[in-house]
Amino acid sequence: MCKSDQLTSSIKSTDAEFATAVCHDPTRRAVILTALVAGTCLASSRSSIAEEDLPGSNERPQKADVLVFSEGEHAGEVIKPQDLKTGGPPARAWPKDPNTSVVRKGSRLNEILVVKLDPAELDEETRARAAGGVVAYSAICVHTGCPITAWVKAAGGDKDVFKCVCHNSEYDPRQSAQVIFGPAPRRLPALPLVAEDGPLTVAATFIGKVGAQQAR
Ligand code: FES
Repeated sequence: MCKSDQLTSSIKSTDAEFATAVCHDPTRRAVILTALVAGTCLASSRSSIAEEDLPGSNERPQKADVLVFSEGEHAGEVIKPQDLKTGGPPARAWPKDPNTSVVRKGSRLNEILVVKLDPAELDEETRARAAGGVVAYSAICVHTGCPITAWVKAAGGDKDVFKCVCHNSEYDPRQSAQVIFGPAPRRLPALPLVAEDGPLTVAATFIGKVGAQQAR
Protein backbone atom coordinates (compact mmCIF):
# COMPACT_ATOMS: atom_id res chain seq x y z
CA MET A 1 0.00 0.00 0.00
CA CYS A 2 1.36 3.36 -0.96
CA LYS A 3 2.09 5.66 1.97
CA SER A 4 0.68 8.56 0.04
CA ASP A 5 -2.91 7.67 0.95
CA GLN A 6 -4.21 11.13 0.09
CA LEU A 7 -2.87 10.85 -3.40
CA THR A 8 -4.43 7.44 -3.88
CA SER A 9 -7.82 8.56 -2.54
CA SER A 10 -7.75 11.73 -4.65
CA ILE A 11 -7.10 9.82 -7.79
CA LYS A 12 -9.83 7.31 -6.89
CA SER A 13 -8.41 4.88 -9.43
CA THR A 14 -9.62 1.31 -9.45
CA ASP A 15 -6.67 0.35 -11.56
CA ALA A 16 -4.27 -1.33 -9.16
CA GLU A 17 -1.39 -1.26 -11.63
CA PHE A 18 -1.81 2.40 -12.24
CA ALA A 19 -1.93 3.18 -8.51
CA THR A 20 1.16 1.12 -7.90
CA ALA A 21 3.03 2.87 -10.70
CA VAL A 22 2.12 6.25 -9.31
CA CYS A 23 3.21 5.33 -5.81
CA HIS A 24 6.61 4.21 -6.98
CA ASP A 25 7.25 7.06 -9.37
CA PRO A 26 7.60 10.39 -7.51
CA THR A 27 7.89 12.39 -10.72
CA ARG A 28 4.68 11.01 -12.11
CA ARG A 29 3.01 11.53 -8.73
CA ALA A 30 3.99 15.21 -8.72
CA VAL A 31 2.73 15.71 -12.25
CA ILE A 32 -0.63 14.17 -11.42
CA LEU A 33 -0.99 16.17 -8.21
CA THR A 34 -0.23 19.36 -10.10
CA ALA A 35 -2.84 18.50 -12.70
CA LEU A 36 -5.44 17.80 -10.03
CA VAL A 37 -4.79 21.11 -8.28
CA ALA A 38 -4.78 23.02 -11.55
CA GLY A 39 -8.04 21.41 -12.55
CA THR A 40 -9.67 22.33 -9.27
CA CYS A 41 -8.48 25.97 -9.55
CA LEU A 42 -9.65 26.21 -13.14
CA ALA A 43 -13.09 24.86 -12.29
CA SER A 44 -13.40 27.30 -9.39
CA SER A 45 -12.29 30.22 -11.55
CA ARG A 46 -14.71 29.27 -14.31
CA SER A 47 -17.70 29.16 -11.93
CA SER A 48 -16.75 32.58 -10.51
CA ILE A 49 -16.38 34.16 -13.94
CA ALA A 50 -19.61 32.59 -15.13
CA GLU A 51 -21.51 34.06 -12.17
CA GLU A 52 -20.32 37.58 -12.95
CA ASP A 53 -21.10 37.17 -16.63
CA LEU A 54 -24.66 35.93 -16.25
CA PRO A 55 -27.19 37.93 -18.28
CA GLY A 56 -28.68 40.68 -16.15
CA SER A 57 -25.84 40.58 -13.65
CA ASN A 58 -24.74 44.15 -14.39
CA GLU A 59 -28.18 45.65 -14.97
CA ARG A 60 -29.30 48.20 -12.39
CA PRO A 61 -31.84 47.00 -9.78
CA GLN A 62 -35.22 46.33 -11.33
CA LYS A 63 -38.71 46.54 -9.89
CA ALA A 64 -39.57 43.28 -8.04
CA ASP A 65 -35.92 42.39 -7.40
CA VAL A 66 -35.23 41.16 -3.88
CA LEU A 67 -32.15 42.16 -1.90
CA VAL A 68 -29.47 39.77 -0.63
CA PHE A 69 -26.64 40.38 1.80
CA SER A 70 -23.44 41.09 -0.11
CA GLU A 71 -21.04 40.21 2.71
CA GLY A 72 -20.77 38.54 6.09
CA GLU A 73 -21.95 35.17 7.35
CA HIS A 74 -25.33 35.61 5.63
CA ALA A 75 -23.93 36.66 2.26
CA GLY A 76 -26.29 35.63 -0.53
CA GLU A 77 -29.33 35.31 1.75
CA VAL A 78 -32.49 37.28 1.04
CA ILE A 79 -32.99 40.21 3.43
CA LYS A 80 -36.22 40.65 5.38
CA PRO A 81 -37.00 43.73 7.51
CA GLN A 82 -36.71 41.68 10.69
CA ASP A 83 -33.11 40.77 9.80
CA LEU A 84 -32.08 44.39 10.42
CA LYS A 85 -31.68 46.20 13.71
CA THR A 86 -33.51 49.53 14.06
CA GLY A 87 -30.99 52.35 14.15
CA GLY A 88 -28.40 50.51 12.10
CA PRO A 89 -25.74 49.74 11.27
CA PRO A 90 -26.58 49.45 7.57
CA ALA A 91 -26.23 46.19 5.67
CA ARG A 92 -24.59 46.01 2.26
CA ALA A 93 -26.69 44.28 -0.37
CA TRP A 94 -27.01 43.25 -4.00
CA PRO A 95 -30.26 43.17 -5.95
CA LYS A 96 -31.32 39.72 -7.10
CA ASP A 97 -33.73 38.80 -9.88
CA PRO A 98 -36.19 36.41 -8.17
CA ASN A 99 -37.15 34.80 -11.48
CA THR A 100 -33.67 33.91 -12.73
CA SER A 101 -31.88 33.96 -9.34
CA VAL A 102 -29.22 36.16 -10.91
CA VAL A 103 -27.55 38.36 -8.32
CA ARG A 104 -26.81 41.68 -10.00
CA LYS A 105 -23.24 42.01 -8.78
CA GLY A 106 -21.62 42.37 -12.18
CA SER A 107 -21.32 46.12 -11.58
CA ARG A 108 -20.03 47.74 -8.40
CA LEU A 109 -22.56 50.50 -9.02
CA ASN A 110 -25.28 48.04 -8.04
CA GLU A 111 -24.22 47.72 -4.43
CA ILE A 112 -26.80 49.05 -2.00
CA LEU A 113 -26.84 50.29 1.59
CA VAL A 114 -29.89 49.13 3.52
CA VAL A 115 -30.67 50.52 6.94
CA LYS A 116 -33.65 50.21 9.27
CA LEU A 117 -34.67 53.41 11.01
CA ASP A 118 -37.48 54.64 13.23
CA PRO A 119 -40.18 55.65 10.72
CA ALA A 120 -40.96 58.69 12.88
CA GLU A 121 -37.47 60.02 12.10
CA LEU A 122 -37.94 59.90 8.34
CA ASP A 123 -39.00 62.92 6.35
CA GLU A 124 -42.11 62.55 4.23
CA GLU A 125 -40.30 61.84 0.98
CA THR A 126 -38.10 59.19 2.58
CA ARG A 127 -40.98 57.52 4.43
CA ALA A 128 -42.85 57.11 1.15
CA ARG A 129 -39.95 55.03 -0.21
CA ALA A 130 -39.36 53.02 2.95
CA ALA A 131 -40.60 49.56 3.87
CA GLY A 132 -41.30 49.35 7.60
CA GLY A 133 -38.64 51.97 8.28
CA VAL A 134 -36.10 50.28 6.00
CA VAL A 135 -34.52 52.57 3.44
CA ALA A 136 -32.08 51.78 0.65
CA TYR A 137 -29.52 53.89 -1.21
CA SER A 138 -26.67 53.44 -3.61
CA ALA A 139 -23.51 52.44 -1.74
CA ILE A 140 -21.34 54.44 -4.15
CA CYS A 141 -20.38 57.98 -3.17
CA VAL A 142 -21.42 60.53 -5.80
CA HIS A 143 -18.28 62.63 -5.25
CA THR A 144 -15.63 60.54 -6.96
CA GLY A 145 -17.11 57.07 -6.65
CA CYS A 146 -15.63 55.52 -3.52
CA PRO A 147 -17.72 52.91 -1.73
CA ILE A 148 -19.41 54.32 1.36
CA THR A 149 -18.15 52.31 4.28
CA ALA A 150 -18.81 54.18 7.53
CA TRP A 151 -21.81 54.69 9.80
CA VAL A 152 -20.89 57.44 12.24
CA LYS A 153 -22.32 60.27 14.31
CA ALA A 154 -22.96 63.23 12.02
CA ALA A 155 -20.51 66.10 12.23
CA GLY A 156 -21.98 68.38 14.89
CA GLY A 157 -25.00 66.09 15.40
CA ASP A 158 -26.11 63.12 17.45
CA LYS A 159 -27.57 60.87 14.73
CA ASP A 160 -25.68 58.20 12.86
CA VAL A 161 -25.27 58.85 9.15
CA PHE A 162 -23.49 57.38 6.12
CA LYS A 163 -19.93 58.60 5.70
CA CYS A 164 -17.54 58.23 2.79
CA VAL A 165 -14.08 58.22 4.26
CA CYS A 166 -12.36 59.16 0.99
CA HIS A 167 -13.13 62.88 1.43
CA ASN A 168 -15.49 62.80 4.42
CA SER A 169 -18.82 63.40 2.74
CA GLU A 170 -21.79 62.57 4.97
CA TYR A 171 -25.34 61.70 3.92
CA ASP A 172 -28.42 61.58 6.14
CA PRO A 173 -30.56 58.53 5.28
CA ARG A 174 -33.54 60.05 7.14
CA GLN A 175 -33.63 62.96 4.69
CA SER A 176 -33.33 61.27 1.32
CA ALA A 177 -29.57 60.87 1.88
CA GLN A 178 -28.98 64.58 1.44
CA VAL A 179 -25.42 65.76 1.82
CA ILE A 180 -24.91 67.21 5.30
CA PHE A 181 -21.13 67.52 5.19
CA GLY A 182 -18.26 67.30 2.74
CA PRO A 183 -17.71 67.83 -0.98
CA ALA A 184 -20.34 65.48 -2.46
CA PRO A 185 -22.35 67.51 -4.99
CA ARG A 186 -25.75 65.81 -4.55
CA ARG A 187 -27.64 63.27 -2.52
CA LEU A 188 -27.28 59.52 -2.91
CA PRO A 189 -29.65 57.81 -5.33
CA ALA A 190 -32.52 56.23 -3.40
CA LEU A 191 -33.96 52.80 -4.12
CA PRO A 192 -37.68 52.59 -3.22
CA LEU A 193 -38.65 49.44 -1.33
CA VAL A 194 -41.70 47.47 -0.33
CA ALA A 195 -42.03 44.51 2.01
CA GLU A 196 -45.37 42.87 2.56
CA ASP A 197 -44.79 40.16 5.14
CA GLY A 198 -41.83 38.99 3.11
CA PRO A 199 -38.41 39.96 1.83
CA LEU A 200 -37.41 43.52 1.04
CA THR A 201 -38.37 44.09 -2.57
CA VAL A 202 -37.43 46.84 -4.99
CA ALA A 203 -40.45 49.02 -5.79
CA ALA A 204 -38.82 51.13 -8.52
CA THR A 205 -35.47 51.80 -10.09
CA PHE A 206 -32.87 54.15 -8.56
CA ILE A 207 -34.00 57.74 -8.19
CA GLY A 208 -31.02 59.72 -9.45
CA LYS A 209 -27.84 58.90 -11.29
CA VAL A 210 -25.69 56.25 -9.65
CA GLY A 211 -22.00 56.84 -9.04
CA ALA A 212 -19.77 59.86 -9.53
CA GLN A 213 -20.58 62.37 -12.25
CA GLN A 214 -18.15 60.74 -14.62
CA ALA A 215 -19.13 57.16 -13.75
CA ARG A 216 -21.14 55.01 -16.16
S1 FES B 1 -15.43 59.96 -3.05
FE1 FES B 1 -16.72 60.11 -1.32
S2 FES B 1 -16.28 62.03 -0.47
FE2 FES B 1 -15.01 61.92 -2.19
